Amino acid sequence: MSTNQKQAPVANGAAPQFALSSRMSTGRAMSQDVWSIFNAANLPADCINLGQGYMNFPPPQWVKEAADEALNTVAGNHYSHPKGRLRLREALRDHYSPLFGRTLDIENEILVSSGANEGQYSAWVAWLEPGDEVILFEPYFDQYLPSITFNHGVPVYVPLHPPAVLDKNQTSDDWKIDFEELRRAVTPRTKMIVVNTPHNPVGKVFSQEELQKIADVAIEHNLIVMSDEVYDGLLFDDKPHVRIANLPGMWDRTITVGSAGKSFACTGWRVGWLIGPKSLIGPTLAAQTRIVFCTNSPLQEAAAAGLEQATKRGYWKQQIDEYTERRDVLMKYFDEIGLQYSLPYGSYFVLVDISKVQIPEDYPFPETIKGRGKDFYAGWFLAQELRVSSIPVSEFYCDEHMNIGERFLRFAFCKDLDTLHKAGERLRGITKFMGQ
Ligand SMILES: Cc1ncc(COP(=O)(O)O)c(C=O)c1O
Repeated sequence: MSTNQKQAPVANGAAPQFALSSRMSTGRAMSQDVWSIFNAANLPADCINLGQGYMNFPPPQWVKEAADEALNTVAGNHYSHPKGRLRLREALRDHYSPLFGRTLDIENEILVSSGANEGQYSAWVAWLEPGDEVILFEPYFDQYLPSITFNHGVPVYVPLHPPAVLDKNQTSDDWKIDFEELRRAVTPRTKMIVVNTPHNPVGKVFSQEELQKIADVAIEHNLIVMSDEVYDGLLFDDKPHVRIANLPGMWDRTITVGSAGKSFACTGWRVGWLIGPKSLIGPTLAAQTRIVFCTNSPLQEAAAAGLEQATKRGYWKQQIDEYTERRDVLMKYFDEIGLQYSLPYGSYFVLVDISKVQIPEDYPFPETIKGRGKDFYAGWFLAQELRVSSIPVSEFYCDEHMNIGERFLRFAFCKDLDTLHKAGERLRGITKFMGQ
C-alpha cells in the first residue's frame, strides 16, 4: 500500500492494518540487527557477554549518591532547561574549557542531550536537507545510519583500511584512511563528515596529522564535522587525544559529542552533551527541544557531580589504569591462544582476527545468520561452543565493504577482571578449531 492511500476498512474481527512510514525501510531500521541476533536470549544461558559495550560494574559510589540527593529535592524531579541543567553546563564548562583552550559559553556553546545518540540525532534534524550526504568512516557506530536516513540524509562510506595481515607489531594505529578515497567521496551534496576518536570498534585514536587532513577537506568544501569523542576519557599508553575542533579554522564548523555513560559507567542514564559554536549549537538546541524537550533531571545532577569531583578524586587516572589492566588481561589470553588482534589505544573494544578459526560446514546455524558475513558465523559458533559472545564487525560496514570487516570479531573489555579471566579461560578452547 502506498503511504498516501486511504486505509482499507477493517473486516469484521480482523486486526487493523496501517501503512508503515517509508523511512522505516531505510537505514537498516527494520532489519534484524546484530544486537538482537547476538542477544542473551538467543545464546546459551551461561554465555559470557563480551559483545555489547556496557559495563558489568556500577558507576562510582559518589556519583550514585549525587543521583540519590537529586531525587530527594523537588527541583531534581522536574523539567530541566532544554539546554541542560545549569549545574551540569557549568561542570562541563569547567571540565572542557581547558581542553578546548577557550572559555566555553554555557548559554550558547554547550547542549546537554539524552545520551550522545539523541544529541547527534538532533544535530542531523537541524542540519540535513533531503539528499544531503554525510561521510562515515567504516566501521561506523551503527546508530548513525538510521539517524541520518530518518532525516533524509544519504550516508557515504569511506573505509578505514586494516593491515593486510595482522601481526604482533600492528595496532589500531595501522587502520588507515586513504585520503584520496576521502576526497573522491566528497560531492556538491556533501554536508558533513563524522569522525569518531577514540574509535568504536577499532580502538584507534586518530593522530593530529590524520585529523588535520580531514580538517583540510572540511574547510576546502565547507563541511560540518561531527566529532564523536564519547570515549575521550579512555585512552591508553599515554596516547594524546587530539580534538579536531582545536585545529586551525575548525571550531566554527565542529560539533564535539560526549557521553556521561562512557565516562562514569552509567550507559543507561542517557546523559550526553554537544559542544560547539553558537551557530551550530543554537539550531540543534531548537531541534532537540522539539524532540525530547529536555534530558532527565536527577541524572544530570549526578553527571555534574561526577565532572566536578573526578579530577580531585583521581578518578580519570584510576579509570584509565583499570581499563588498561582489563585490556591487557584479555590481550594476554589472545596472545597465548595465538589469535592476532589490533591493539586498541582507546575505547573499550578490541578487534580480533578470526580468519584462522575453522567452522564445521554442517554446523546448525539459525536462519538469522545465513547469508551474513563470515564473522557472523564465527561469532555464533564461538558463542555456542565456548560460551563467550562477541560482535561481528561486518555489521558496521555497508554491503559493498562488508568483506573488509568480516575477518574480525569485536570483544568488549568493559567488564570486571573476574569476568575477563573466565572469558579468557573459555576462549582457550578456540585452539581446537584453529588451522595452522
Ligand atoms: C562511537 C559512539 N558514539 C555514540 C555512542 C552513544 O552514546 P550514548 O550511550 O551516550 O548515547 C556510542 C555508544 O556505544 C558509541 O560507541
